[in-house]
Amino acid sequence: MPLDIDVVRPPERLAGARVLIVDDEPANTRLLERLLGEAGYTAVRATNDPLEGLMLCETWTPDLLLLDLHMPEVDGYSILRQVTEPERGVSRPLVVVLTADVTPAARERALSLGATDFLTKPFDHLEALLRIRNHLATRRMELDLAEYAGALEERVAERTVELRESLEQLRQTLEQRRLLAARLVTAQEEERRHIAADIHDDTIQTMVAVGIRLELLMRGLTDPALLDEMNALRATVSDSMSGLRRLLFELRPMSLERGGLADALEEYLEQAATAGGPAYALDASLATKPAYEENVVLYRIAQEALVNARKHAAATSVTVTLADDGNGVRLEVRDDGRGFAPDLVAPQRGHLGLPSMMERAELSGGWCRIESAPGAGTTVTAWIPLGSIAEDPV
Ligand SMILES: Nc1ncnc2c1ncn2[C@@H]1O[C@H](COP(=O)(O)OP(=O)(O)OP(=O)(O)O)[C@@H](O)[C@H]1O
Ligand SMILES: [Mg+2]
Repeated sequence: MPLDIDVVRPPERLAGARVLIVDDEPANTRLLERLLGEAGYTAVRATNDPLEGLMLCETWTPDLLLLDLHMPEVDGYSILRQVTEPERGVSRPLVVVLTADVTPAARERALSLGATDFLTKPFDHLEALLRIRNHLATRRMELDLAEYAGALEERVAERTVELRESLEQLRQTLEQRRLLAARLVTAQEEERRHIAADIHDDTIQTMVAVGIRLELLMRGLTDPALLDEMNALRATVSDSMSGLRRLLFELRPMSLERGGLADALEEYLEQAATAGGPAYALDASLATKPAYEENVVLYRIAQEALVNARKHAAATSVTVTLADDGNGVRLEVRDDGRGFAPDLVAPQRGHLGLPSMMERAELSGGWCRIESAPGAGTTVTAWIPLGSIAEDPV
């Protein structure tokens, strides 16, 4: 019966699939070659020599192998065993066994060795071609999938490289921030030191001289009205000097350089207490010893939070806590004052306290949080890691 070509014709993408026929009987290979050719397959090869068939499996890597079982020298089973080894991956062909052996044992053995299909001779041409086409469609899908997996792997590898580069950039940015933080802290402190030195050596000395001259002037005065005037002037000078000394202390807390953070904060709180206002308490239990730059960052944050508590909170008590926390130090300044809504504080010109606290902490690789609500007091918590602020590189 002539073949209905339209029924068995492979779609275009399957017509070029490589099909290898291995059968020791030339009549069989001829028949199959003819059938496949008529159906529209363009890459068909055949051999009557099983050894050549094995070699072609290696060099030509067929998609489908049509294999006879009983052949001299090398039988179909041993070819089957070799070409279906799992290590071959996608270069492993699908195998359709075509044999005159109709015993169930042959069928079971061939299938268990990895044959995809088993047809007995004489076979129905139409059925064989339809099966071959279906198997090749599966094979095509397998190849597409492997290609897709390969492309995917390539993309993953590309993305990994990109990610690694971004990570490296991020690391460099962080490194720059660390250096910047160190410079910022050092530059600010340096500037404060200069101003403090000027106030100490120049302004305060001038005020002292003014005070002495006032004393001298007053000795020669007898007019009570003038004396009252001079006394008021002397008191003003003395007040200004106290103010300047306080400023000096704010600008350059010597104890931060000599002692440490806890000492400096204690001194600061003592000073603050003399001006009245809330009761201050310090709870410092640091086992670690932060570097000078780290102490400066924490000290300045505490200073800002304490100034805010004094200026805005109308608190009765303020507690400062210093504690080791993970690989860093945590500072907490808590007041029981009137509180405020931090989310509603719009950035205003000249109101730099809250942002500057956060900036200082973040530049040091840490963080600063402000918790507050109207009527519920305010807690400023800052944490900075130790060992993250680089030594000043200059
Ligand atoms: N402890 C606090 N208790 C109550 N209100 C506070 C407290 N801390 C801050 N605030 C409120 O948040 C606002 C912003 O504070 P911030 O420190 O940023 O600016 P400032 O203190 O007004 O000015 P600057 O600090 O720049 O001198 C304050 O004006 C105040 O209303
Ligand atoms: Mg402030």
